[in-house]
Amino acid sequence: MVRRQSLHGQWSSRLAFVLAATGAAVGLGNIWRFPYVAGEHGGGAFVIIYLACVFAIGLPLFMAEAMLGRRGRRNPINAMQLLSQEEAGHSGWQVAGWIGVATGILILSYYSVVAGLTFSYAIDIAAGSLNHARPMDITAHYRELMNSPFELLFWHTLFLAFAVFVVARGVEQGLERVVKFVMPVLFLMLVVVVVYAGAKFAFGQAVQYLFDADFSRVDGDTLLTALGQAFFSLSLGMGAIMAYGAYLPDDASIPGTSFAIVLVDTVVALLAGLAIFSVALGSGLDPATGPGLMFHALPLTFADMPGGVFFGTLFFLLLILAAWSSSIGLIEPAVARMVERHGFSRRNAALAIGALAWLLGVLTLLSFNAFSGVRFLAGSLFENLDYLAANILLPLGGLLVALFAGWAMSKASSVDEFEIGTGLRYTLWRSFTRFVVPLGVAGIFCRALGWLP
Ligand code: PFF
Repeated sequence: MVRRQSLHGQWSSRLAFVLAATGAAVGLGNIWRFPYVAGEHGGGAFVIIYLACVFAIGLPLFMAEAMLGRRGRRNPINAMQLLSQEEAGHSGWQVAGWIGVATGILILSYYSVVAGLTFSYAIDIAAGSLNHARPMDITAHYRELMNSPFELLFWHTLFLAFAVFVVARGVEQGLERVVKFVMPVLFLMLVVVVVYAGAKFAFGQAVQYLFDADFSRVDGDTLLTALGQAFFSLSLGMGAIMAYGAYLPDDASIPGTSFAIVLVDTVVALLAGLAIFSVALGSGLDPATGPGLMFHALPLTFADMPGGVFFGTLFFLLLILAAWSSSIGLIEPAVARMVERHGFSRRNAALAIGALAWLLGVLTLLSFNAFSGVRFLAGSLFENLDYLAANILLPLGGLLVALFAGWAMSKASSVDEFEIGTGLRYTLWRSFTRFVVPLGVAGIFCRALGWLP
C-alpha cells in the first residue's frame, strides 16, 4: 500500500470514519428529499429503482471514492490530479475533483436554506405554536414562512455559520464530535416516529405506496431522479467521501465500512418515507406536495402526539444536527483544497466557502417568494439548481470516478489499496465499477435525454 500522510490529520479510528461518513450521508437527503421526490414520482417503482441505484451504482462508487481518497490522501482535486499522473501519465482526471468541489458549494447553498427551515420549525414546535394544529394551520404556517425572505435569510445565515464553525476547527475536534452522538439518537427517534405515525395514521397504505411498484409509469425522468437521489443521499459524485477517505487509517477495511454506511443511509430513508407517507396518506396530504412535504407531515405527527412538543422539538433539533454533519461533507473538499493548494488557514477557507454558499443561497430563498414567478426548464430557480446538482453534476462526477477507478487505474493499484485480495469481493467491485456504473449512469442520461427508448 502507498503510505501517504494527510495534512489534516486522520480519524482516530475506523469507527470515527464510519460515523463521519454516515454523518455526511444521513441528512436532509434522507428525511426531507427522499420522501418528496418519491412522492412526486408516484412511490413504488421509484423506490425500487432508487434501491437498485443505491446498491448497483452507489455502493461500488462509494468504495471507489473512499479508496481513491485514501490513496491520494489529499483533497479531491489534488488527489485526482496526483492519481491521474501516477496511473495515466497526465492530470486530466482532476476534472472529476473540480466538478465535485463546485457541486458541493452549489448543494450547500440550498441545503442550508432548507436546514434553516428546519431550525425555524424546531423553535416553533418548542414554543408550542404548532401544538394541536390542524392540516390547514400547518399549511398556512408553511406558506407564511416561505413568504418571509428575511426570516429565511436569518435561519440560512445561522445554519451556515454553525457549519463553517465546525469545519474551521478541523477534522478531529470538529467533525467527529458532532456525529458521534447525533446518529444513534436520530435513528432511535426515527423509529419512535415511524411507530407512532404508523399507528395513528396509515401505515399499511404507506407500505403499499412505497413498495407496490407500477413500472408502467416510469419514464426517463423517474430514472434520472432516482439515480440523482441515490447520489445525493450517499454524498457521492462530489468528492465528500473522497475527502473523508483521505483521513481514513491505513488498516481500515473499505468494503465493510462502505456497505455498513450505505445500508444505514438507505434504512434511514425508508424509515423516513414510511413515517411521512403514513401521515400524508392518512391525513389527505398529497404525496406529490413537493419540497414542503416533510414540513407538513412531521408537524402534523407531533401536533397531537403525547409529549409532542418535546418529541417534535427533539426530532427537529436532531435533524438540524444531521444536516449540519452533512453540510460539513459539502464544505470539506473545497476547504481542504484551499488549505493544501493555496495556503489558506482552515478558518479563512471555511469562511470564504461559507460566504459563497451564503450568496448563492439567497437566490434560492428568494425563489420561494420574490422570484417565485421566475420559472424555466426544471421550474423555479431552486428546482433548477437542485436538478443541475443532483441529477446532472453528481452522476457526472460519479461516472468519471468510476471510469478512472475501473479503467484508468491499474488493477495492481486498486488491489493494493483495497487489501482484500483478488477474490469474489474484489472481482464484484471491479466488474461493477467498470461496467455496471458507467453503463448505468450513461444509459440513464441517454434515456432522460430521449436518446434511448
Ligand atoms: N447526503 C446528504 C443528505 O442526504 O442529506 C447530502 C450531502 C451531504 C450530499 C454531503 C453531498 C455531500 F457531500
